[in-house]
Amino acid sequence: MRRKLAAGNWKMNGTSDALAQLDALRKAHPTPGVDMLICPPATLISAAVVTAADHALAIGGQDCHMNETGAHTGDISAAMLKDAGASHVLTGHSERRTDHGESDEMIRNKTKAAHAQGLIAVVCIGETLKEREAANTLDIIAGQLAGSLPDVLTAENTVIAYEPVWAIGTGKVPTMNQIGEVHDYIRTKLEQRYGAGVGTSIRILYGGSVKGSNADEIFAVSNVDGALVGGASLRVEDFSPIITALENA
Ligand code: PGA
Repeated sequence: MRRKLAAGNWKMNGTSDALAQLDALRKAHPTPGVDMLICPPATLISAAVVTAADHALAIGGQDCHMNETGAHTGDISAAMLKDAGASHVLTGHSERRTDHGESDEMIRNKTKAAHAQGLIAVVCIGETLKEREAANTLDIIAGQLAGSLPDVLTAENTVIAYEPVWAIGTGKVPTMNQIGEVHDYIRTKLEQRYGAGVGTSIRILYGGSVKGSNADEIFAVSNVDGALVGGASLRVEDFSPIITALENA
């Protein structure tokens, strides 16, 4: 059985007053029936870890550098995230791929760096609208999986997030058939590459305009093991119904 995961990505949102949202979140779900993760901006990680202490709420980074130390101004290493108390890190989010020109190879190396520090990597993949309209979605997904994932991983240290780029922050959501097609395809690819044990056990999240109002139908799709949520993770009143929907799925 794959344990479900409700993950929030705050992106470049939140200063210290946002910690009140984390506190409210843990109080709203004192004993959650699913795993919960929030990835706040790096400046809030240490404080968020304190706020989430003694609760199942995990705290993660949004990116890490592939090297452990060095002359990389503005970057943060997986070791630093670990030291700050993070347990997870997103790698390959489409905004990193676009804004910072991250390639599959870089993402694979970042994922390896995360694993080397004992962090759980949430590796993000997804097609653009142009790629979907050209009927290239599955090829793009196959290429990103092949390039962004290391040859050695476990179901414990790796989560996949399928996020169609055109669904992120747009309010547009694929049909449930489209989500199911890609999630089933990812599952098959993982089983082929990592064997039935690991490939069957890795969790696959859906991300892109998940809200309380569409969470039930998304979580009913096969091989959807949770969600990576952007905008709707910023406030408890928006994120909490998504967590509840996942608990009931
Ligand atoms: P969204 O973002 O929920 O605001 O669409 C999802 C993501 O980028 O992880």
